[in-house]
Amino acid sequence: MITNRQIVLAGRPKGMPGLEHFRFVDAPLPEPALGQALVRTLYLSVDPYMRGRMNEGKSYVPPYPLNEVISGGSIGQVVESKHEGLKPGDLVSGQWGWQQYATANAARLSKIDTNLAPITTSLGVLGMTGLTAYFGLLDIGKPQPGETVVVSGAAGAVGMVVGQIAKIQGCRVIGIAGSDEKIAYLTEELGFDAALNYKTEDLPKALAESCPLGVDVYFDNVGGAVSDAVLSLINTGARIPLCGQISLYNLKEPDVGPRVQTQLLINKALMKGFIIGDYASRFPEGITQLAKWVTGKQIRYAENVVQGFENTPQAFLDLFSGENIGKQLVKVADPE
Ligand SMILES: NC(=O)c1ccc[n+]([C@@H]2O[C@H](COP(=O)([O-])OP(=O)(O)OC[C@H]3O[C@@H](n4cnc5c(N)ncnc54)[C@H](OP(=O)(O)O)[C@@H]3O)[C@@H](O)[C@H]2O)c1
Repeated sequence: MITNRQIVLAGRPKGMPGLEHFRFVDAPLPEPALGQALVRTLYLSVDPYMRGRMNEGKSYVPPYPLNEVISGGSIGQVVESKHEGLKPGDLVSGQWGWQQYATANAARLSKIDTNLAPITTSLGVLGMTGLTAYFGLLDIGKPQPGETVVVSGAAGAVGMVVGQIAKIQGCRVIGIAGSDEKIAYLTEELGFDAALNYKTEDLPKALAESCPLGVDVYFDNVGGAVSDAVLSLINTGARIPLCGQISLYNLKEPDVGPRVQTQLLINKALMKGFIIGDYASRFPEGITQLAKWVTGKQIRYAENVVQGFENTPQAFLDLFSGENIGKQLVKVADPE
């Protein structure tokens, strides 16, 4: 008998999460109801925002319930369908999360266009993270030719797309990331004008040298001391899309840093938080443009594909030690 292996939330971490916060369970294979499909998981997305959902408390999405499957971006293949729009063999993406099989309403599954690019891109550069880069940078950052754009978390899924879109817009682009391998990748492979290793360099000094004309757009993926250093260099009229604060997600106590309001005030700067789901009605526009750039090789992407469903929790934890260049994914199975 086929069972459905699942990963559930076993406890709520205080500080850095560990493997003990997840538990593997075996459930019976679910039966699709009318209007649903049974899907076999091929790839799973692991994302920093999932850390926030492990906590209790109010946020823009509800916390993961204890002892329930961790939901998140997923790619799979239809095994059985009770909806006329889907047939066995179709490749689909959805949000069923960390389990080997799932049933879902057809309306909650998107067919993957396999002509555009490899299917994994629907979780990365042509999916949630690429769209986050696209709308956050263009809608809030509004980069203009000749401006200086700084992006933190630059070698990650969102950051590497941000930097390349900023280059397409004619900007000077500086990336900040956490290893020399990432720095080399950004400057040698992706065409960033400069990249700085925040773990080994004197960041305020290195940034001042790399940004002699100041900073017009700061795309903030990490927060904390990295962002303090960038914000001290912003120009009049700077725009700061506030995308993520990963350096703060595992702190046990709230962090108090420099208070930035004066800096924003005297520079008449805009700092704006955004959540990508709010752009859902414009996703087709974003995917169409990103796909053009990807097929035209103006945007390149990297994926760090961890093999095996059993390694999903570790692949998630590795985001916080920066193991990944590009989108962190887990490969669960090959398509049939
Ligand atoms: N607003 C939205 O709708 C939205 C959507 C998607 C993602 N996000 C946010 O965007 C950010 C990037 O997400 P992603 O999916 O592209 O992840 P990612 O950048 O591919 O992976 C996370 C990276 O964060 C860096 N990092 C980890 N701990 C850090 C720390 N303490 N200080 C500085 N950097 C640290 C690591 O790279 P290094 O080696 O460089 O440290 C790691 O590789 C996250 O903050 C995420 O929460 C927001």
